[in-house]
Amino acid sequence: MHRRFPSVAVTAVDPDARLLDRLRAKSGPNAEWLQVVTGTVDTVDVGVAVDVVFSQLVLSLTTDPAHELRALRVLMRPRGLLRAAVVGGPERMRAFAGFWAAAEAVVPGAAPPVAYPHLRFADPEMLRRVAVEAGWADVRVEPADTRRTVTSAELWDWLSLTLPLYTADRRAIPLQDLGSTLVEELRLSVLSEFQQYRDARGWYDVPTGGWLLTGTAG
Ligand SMILES: C[S@@+](CC[C@H](N)C(=O)[O-])C[C@H]1O[C@@H](n2cnc3c(N)ncnc32)[C@H](O)[C@@H]1O
Repeated sequence: MHRRFPSVAVTAVDPDARLLDRLRAKSGPNAEWLQVVTGTVDTVDVGVAVDVVFSQLVLSLTTDPAHELRALRVLMRPRGLLRAAVVGGPERMRAFAGFWAAAEAVVPGAAPPVAYPHLRFADPEMLRRVAVEAGWADVRVEPADTRRTVTSAELWDWLSLTLPLYTADRRAIPLQDLGSTLVEELRLSVLSEFQQYRDARGWYDVPTGGWLLTGTAG
């Protein structure tokens, strides 16, 4: 984004600081155009009206996507654009559901509190309606069949960094708090679950796609 539009200022928001540390490391020490905020749309203060918001594989994992969409809408300048990649539908969600099934086998209760909340978006019309009710205009939901091809080390790194785990009493739990033995068990369980995506070279070709939700701030 910044390479194509050098004058752009980017604010990256995620409640998980590990993801943002990685982004900072990738962007280099002199990326003045980048502000990273550990938090959510409720806590971020961008300071100006936002032109474009990109949300990638987040709405399907939050407990209240309607709230997130309303709160994003408030941040926008008139006619500002929304582009959100949303995981949706049982088939497309198979890979992520597999992660939690593997996690549950090692850490009971590890799946998100609402059982697979993304399944709410199996119906694209439902996703469209949630966005319209949140105040977005020109809302469209199109299928987006994306995949990610990774090595086994990258697979574990990616999944363990981006998918939340929970305890039996429904608190989100950082991976490192599980202790190294459980983490190793979890890693093996996940790799075993993901064997189905392994190709002849030993790479994993994982379906991540779902919907591309677009809209404008009316
Ligand atoms: C599947 S990961 C996607 C991460 C990243 N956007 C990407 O595409 O690689 C889901 C992310 O959603 C973040 N998340 C969960 N709840 C959130 C919320 N309410 N607001 C913003 N991010 C949230 C998690 O911390 C996690 O990093």
